[in-house]
Amino acid sequence: MSAFVIKGGRRISGSLRVQGSKNSVLPILAATVLTEGKSVIHNCPKLSDTDGTIKILKNLGCKVIREGSSIIVDSSNISSAEIPEKLMREMRSSVIFLGAILGRMNSAVISTPGGCEIGLRPIDLHLYAMKQLGVQVEENYGKLICSAPNGLKGKKITFSFPSVGATENAVLASVTAKGTTTIVNAAREPEIIDLCDFLNKCGGEIYGAGESVITVKGKEKLFPCEYSVICDRIACATYLIAGAVTGGDVVLENTNPVHLSAVLPLLEEAGCDINIRCRAIRLKAPRRLNRIDKIITQPYPGFPTDAQAPFTTLVCVAKGTSVIVENIFESRFKHIPELVRMGAKIRMEGRVAVIDGVERLYGAEVVSPDLRGGAALVLAGLCAEGETVVNNTKFIDRGYEDFEDNLSMLNADVKRKVN
Ligand code: UD1
Repeated sequence: MSAFVIKGGRRISGSLRVQGSKNSVLPILAATVLTEGKSVIHNCPKLSDTDGTIKILKNLGCKVIREGSSIIVDSSNISSAEIPEKLMREMRSSVIFLGAILGRMNSAVISTPGGCEIGLRPIDLHLYAMKQLGVQVEENYGKLICSAPNGLKGKKITFSFPSVGATENAVLASVTAKGTTTIVNAAREPEIIDLCDFLNKCGGEIYGAGESVITVKGKEKLFPCEYSVICDRIACATYLIAGAVTGGDVVLENTNPVHLSAVLPLLEEAGCDINIRCRAIRLKAPRRLNRIDKIITQPYPGFPTDAQAPFTTLVCVAKGTSVIVENIFESRFKHIPELVRMGAKIRMEGRVAVIDGVERLYGAEVVSPDLRGGAALVLAGLCAEGETVVNNTKFIDRGYEDFEDNLSMLNADVKRKVN
């Protein structure tokens, strides 16, 4: 167990090259299972979730080597179609392997991912997509035994909600299926485009990624390739907010500002000056932030649920009252009681939080409730008076590479304490 110890009140300033996207690298690494050979994936962030994905790949029989920020996966020989429960539990997004394993082996055994820190995370949409493609699913003592004895066959998949993971699974399972698959009401996140770009580079034929209708023309075989994952838009949002809440001046390199189209206008509404030059974003913060009228989480291109917790910290120290509505996950306000311990004024009812900005937060000992909630508490520590201890960093380590080092490079006083 470790904790971040933060001495607040320092102005975040300087420039940072932002890590590769966590939510891209996981499905892309899973996709290498389909390629039957040696793929080289660049710009992979060093995260515990990436390590979890590597463990699953090795368990399936792949050879995996990490060289700096590149991961080389040789999937020539796959010896198993099962992910053991222990590995499934370690990383709930491991369900993303389902479509890839089925595509390669015509069968897959996984365990049902249980409850999660931000809500139940059911997988009904993933299973619906697999069934549409001809997969039989049997549930046996918490295990999901999936098989397509006659191979997967392309079909129309119409989602009732644009789930990111289910869209990825549908693409992974259909890219080598027989015939054409049409995915209606697909998720449009940049990470979906990244996955499809990778698969197309491997010889796949996918059209419409980033739009609501994706068409996949099944190919008999995919080939390995070399690919670089996109920049992590949520890590970008987090570091920009670090600048915003400390009256700072920060430049992020290697970004894709288009992916932040729903985020940057809210930082401007809060009074920050945003300057974009090619792939770099510069944020200059005012002495005191303004309130943000409404922050409403939506599927992409709407405001991302993953940036909701960090923005909660921002409006906690803004002038006036802000409202946050969380539409994607049912229990994603667990950082709020911890922020209140630090002096924030927040009322909560169901999926709505009303925040009355205070002049300052005060350092306290708090517990990271989940990945983005933990990041929000670190941000609160950066602008709080005195010392903040954020316990339970294991969640934060799932998504932020070298978090304390990067923040320290930007002039923060953050140290990791191992208990
Ligand atoms: C992905 C991201 C996560 C992000 C989320 C929403 C990864 C590894 N994780 O998660 O960081 O917060 O997108 O942008 O990419 N749902 C169902 N049935 C299903 C699947 C989902 O009801 O079969 C519901 C979920 O409970 C949730 C909503 O749909 O309420 C969104 O989930 P989804 O888009 O699937 O998120 P993930 O892929 O799990």
